[in-house]
Amino acid sequence: MHLPIRLIVLVVAFISHERGGIAQYVQPYTSIVVPVNKHTDAAKPLYSVQIMTAYVNSQYLKANFVIDIDAPLIWHDCILQWNIYPGSCPSNTLCTSPVSCEEDYCTDVRTTYSYDNPSCSPVTNSSTLPGWGYCTCPVNVVCPVTGACVEALLNYDDFTVNTSNGRNVFSGLYGPSPNAACAPSSSFESFPANVTGVMAFSSSPYALPAYLYQPLRKILALCLPSNLSAPGVLFFGTGPYYLLPHSDVDLRSLLSYTPLLKQPDSFGYFIGVKAIVIKEISINIPEDTTTKLSTTEPYTTLRTDIYNRVVYTFSIAAIGIPRSKPVAPFSLCFRTFGIDNGVGLKVPDIDFSLPDGKKWTISPANSMKQITKDFGCLAILDGGASSEHAIVIGTFQFEDNFLVFDLENSTFGFSSSLLGEQTSCANFNFTLTDLS
Ligand SMILES: *[C@@H]1O[C@H](CO)[C@@H](O)[C@H](O)[C@H]1NC(C)=O
Ligand SMILES: *[C@@H]1O[C@H](CO)[C@@H](O)[C@H](O)[C@H]1NC(C)=O
Ligand SMILES: *[C@@H]1O[C@H](CO)[C@@H](O)[C@H](O)[C@H]1NC(C)=O
Ligand SMILES: *[C@@H]1O[C@H](CO)[C@@H](O)[C@H](O)[C@H]1NC(C)=O
Ligand SMILES: *[C@@H]1O[C@H](CO)[C@@H](O)[C@H](O)[C@H]1NC(C)=O
Ligand SMILES: *[C@@H]1O[C@H](CO)[C@@H](O)[C@H](O)[C@H]1NC(C)=O
Repeated sequence: MHLPIRLIVLVVAFISHERGGIAQYVQPYTSIVVPVNKHTDAAKPLYSVQIMTAYVNSQYLKANFVIDIDAPLIWHDCILQWNIYPGSCPSNTLCTSPVSCEEDYCTDVRTTYSYDNPSCSPVTNSSTLPGWGYCTCPVNVVCPVTGACVEALLNYDDFTVNTSNGRNVFSGLYGPSPNAACAPSSSFESFPANVTGVMAFSSSPYALPAYLYQPLRKILALCLPSNLSAPGVLFFGTGPYYLLPHSDVDLRSLLSYTPLLKQPDSFGYFIGVKAIVIKEISINIPEDTTTKLSTTEPYTTLRTDIYNRVVYTFSIAAIGIPRSKPVAPFSLCFRTFGIDNGVGLKVPDIDFSLPDGKKWTISPANSMKQITKDFGCLAILDGGASSEHAIVIGTFQFEDNFLVFDLENSTFGFSSSLLGEQTSCANFNFTLTDLS
């Protein structure tokens, strides 16, 4: 059943190797590397990774996937074909092989790793493919833009990514083959243009990290760009990692580490924030609360009691700065006289105080969202009085910070703003280096 696609993959691997020369020098890659793009054309800002999905007419097709560090399963715009052969896949369509409802993967995903969401209706075994003697395996996924439930069909997938030494992109490729799920094209209408999938980077056994093997170490390094026109970068694997113009600064030397925590019923990542500190005024966070890290929430969201104290303290600390009328969803805005990006604006830093005396500093570039040339707002939202997590740290606060999720040691490394180091997430040297 699945033989045809496996054969094709082997052939492709052989061809790409051939192109590089037979006695190719094996490049000493330390990680895989993919470009990260920021998108602002959907209901909320989102960030995508570009991944090669299929080898067609002697070149790789590429697709953009929303980065989701919480999702249990990868899903994207593709269809199932049980008898894939060259030329059988309709054009502008991505074909993958089905998982049948009788396979263990199907039961496993449905019972444990499917999206747990009240908006999802129960799946059935009624879906089939013409000519295939089995039922396919529908599973539930949740749209990160609308929160709507989508029925997708479990598959055997193949992705291809480039390797790296942390400085450049190598021509050598790495090809994970996860079980993902195919959803109809219409499921991606609310997504940013040209983004046709969700790449799960969570701790679920069906997220991408689970399919990335030796020599890669299970370390995800994420650098979200603030710039729409230049890509940021995502690595998976051990460092070093470099950004221009500092060809001698391994970004790991800029990191502080804090334990990465697990929460029951979640494949996402959490840290322990003990207090939020603004100009030496400390807002203590109750011990029993959780702080979640999210790549699909655009702004840090605080439970109302914490939010009120943070906004009040920030407004006192920024007392001399002229205010502007707030614009939803923000409640505290300042006139900034056209200072781009909040850099140089004299609002105070916000520190997340972590165990062992560590602190993650949120500088103005990551706290003040420029709304127009003339004013900016404190980019923190009120999550309501009974929000599930007391703190959710969102992507605006991640931009131009170098973040490392070490899944082997369960630690989270963070740099605070790279702009202070005269670099940014858009400064990876994506030049292809062929060492052979
Ligand atoms: C689907 O079929 C499989 C294999 O026959 C069975 O184990 C599973 O319980 C069925 N699931 C549903 C939702 O009917
Ligand atoms: C990845 O490698 C492929 C094949 O070697 C190449 O065509 C592509 O440009 C590379 N991607 C990036 C982002 O450099
Ligand atoms: C989407 O992709 C098409 C074709 O590659 C390109 O022409 C277009 O500019 C892209 N749109 C966006 C918003 O990136
Ligand atoms: C965004 O990237 C473009 C292209 O690399 C660059 O010219 C521009 O200065 C960048 N803007 C910011 C705000 O970094
Ligand atoms: C992870 O733990 C191992 C073993 O304790 C240690 O050798 C290694 O340096 C740690 N890695 C990081 C990035 O802290
Ligand atoms: C980017 O990498 C290439 C290949 O190593 C190198 O030739 C080039 O000088 C680098 N670019 C910059 C701006 O350093």
